[in-house]
Amino acid sequence: MTAYFAYISGENVELAKAEVEVLLNQYPDDKESIWQGRLAKITMPVNPTGFLLERAALVQMAGTILYESDSVDKITQEISDDEWVVNITKQDEFSVKTLCVDVDNDLGMRLQIEKVLGAHIKKVTGARVNLRYPSVQILVLILSNRILVCKSSTSRLRALLRNREPGKKTFFHPSMMNSTLARVMCNLAGVRVGDVVLDPFCGGGGILCEAAHIGASVVGIDLSWKLLVGAIRNLNEIGVKYSIIQGDAQHLPIKSVNRIVTDPPYGRASSTRGSRAIKLVESLLENVDSILESKGECLCLCGDSEMKLSHSVKNAGFTVVRQLRMKVHSGLIREIVTVQI
Ligand SMILES: C[S@@+](CC[C@H](N)C(=O)[O-])C[C@H]1O[C@@H](n2cnc3c(N)ncnc32)[C@H](O)[C@@H]1O
Repeated sequence: MTAYFAYISGENVELAKAEVEVLLNQYPDDKESIWQGRLAKITMPVNPTGFLLERAALVQMAGTILYESDSVDKITQEISDDEWVVNITKQDEFSVKTLCVDVDNDLGMRLQIEKVLGAHIKKVTGARVNLRYPSVQILVLILSNRILVCKSSTSRLRALLRNREPGKKTFFHPSMMNSTLARVMCNLAGVRVGDVVLDPFCGGGGILCEAAHIGASVVGIDLSWKLLVGAIRNLNEIGVKYSIIQGDAQHLPIKSVNRIVTDPPYGRASSTRGSRAIKLVESLLENVDSILESKGECLCLCGDSEMKLSHSVKNAGFTVVRQLRMKVHSGLIREIVTVQI
């Protein structure tokens, strides 16, 4: 079995690890992932890294591990010339970069590896060095106990997500979910291409837009017509299938969906129109079993940590699979939970 790697962002390591693990669960194959700091070494029969880079909001880089050693001195001697020729053609332009994963940054060592390995690959393959726009990126990961030489790709999704933040959408409202967290939540709920995804508190459609970008059909419900019109404008921009319904999440006019991804109202930006936010969640939980056609970890909720979402989930008779926290500012810690249906 080939070994692959994924290097996650440091914003929220636990959330990023959960995102990778859930995405890997979409593969039925035997697999093993071992974490060392922000690095996952993944061993499995098929290459999951294209999928991880396309789907995960919190994966920065991923690729194939070409060679693993306990010593930096052996890199150029022990990787065969054939290995380089298979991976880098004469027409390619390549870069060699290094990253210290769980050790102090040793700039001298990094520069030495980049220089020696770069010269070696150039000699063996005849390819040119291009540090800015390489067609092949070689990444040497320096860990406390070993060195991994990898063929790596950098996430393009993360830049796309930054361009889709609420402030950059056609319609904006402060209650809207930011695109990175919306994407992570969709992934945690296991959203797949062709699924029907419901956000019963959809507001201006932050979550709906990310589910739609993944390839789901989306259904949004909200009390506020003004926000629903905003969601329609945002979804029209993507050009996807959607249903938008003005209604109360406590009386869902929906029979069957595959996933529910939502953040009920909390904080100052969104109104509950007099209801207690946690009551709205409890009322939703009373109905999810009959609405959710798919079973498994297919409900993801996000709220203020003071709402104690996991408490309500357990009281409703469901199992909390993951409970993750995210500090927004000193007054707001978000809690993200996934629920087994
Ligand atoms: C935090 S915002 C949702 C943000 C949205 N999920 C997103 O992805 O951008 C909460 C929303 O719940 C709506 N809301 C409040 N009470 C509701 C109810 N009983 N039924 C449906 N929507 C409700 C508010 O109008 C507000 O748009």
